[in-house]
Amino acid sequence: MARTYGEIVQPSFEDVFAQTLDRKATVFVDIGSGKGLITAAAALEGGYAKAVGIEKYRDKYDDSMQLRSSMPEEIQQRLDFTLSDIADLDLRDLIQTWARPEVLLFCNNLAFGHGMNGRLGRSIRETMDSLPDVRIVVVATTPFEGLTDRLDSLIPLDMTWGPKHEASVYVGGDAHHDHRQRERVGSIAVGEAC
Ligand SMILES: C[S@@+](CC[C@H](N)C(=O)[O-])C[C@H]1O[C@@H](n2cnc3c(N)ncnc32)[C@H](O)[C@@H]1O
Repeated sequence: MARTYGEIVQPSFEDVFAQTLDRKATVFVDIGSGKGLITAAAALEGGYAKAVGIEKYRDKYDDSMQLRSSMPEEIQQRLDFTLSDIADLDLRDLIQTWARPEVLLFCNNLAFGHGMNGRLGRSIRETMDSLPDVRIVVVATTPFEGLTDRLDSLIPLDMTWGPKHEASVYVGGDAHHDHRQRERVGSIAVGEAC
């Protein structure tokens, strides 16, 4: 994939965080975490139990680790960055290791290639299907074809390339039935829009 990307901008961080039910019991994961800004904010301001950034490229990972080292010790304990290609990780194993009832996967995947998005979508789908007790929420800047039946809502996010980019929110696990209980910030629930 190309190495020039856009990022989500700070005013929209809360719109992503609002997709989860109980942040103190949730792991926030940024798949392709870049410089680590939203991941750090998830631990610092979002109040997540744990925040994890997964980044393929060393220079971005180093930036995120530098950001982490500037944080208070209590935040660092809940904030991890991993230098890895997401294709080399087993999402299901990771989620099982964290042993939390809820996981938020933020995927700013607009610049991921079609093949990569296909593989990632299938991996998320298999993980959702095999872990029905975990409420897995996915916020993606490019839709995942294999998750269409798990589409919950569309939310506008402000990105460095422009305002109000439509992101897709998918919810997996048995808990996807209770998705309408959560706080909503500017979202349009699928089925409520028309
Ligand atoms: C558009 S940036 C998003 C940065 C941050 N998540 C945000 O939204 O502000 C996408 C990031 O994904 C990383 N990336 C691309 N392919 C990846 C892969 N296969 N595994 C892990 N990270 C990847 C890129 O290096 C880049 O830093």
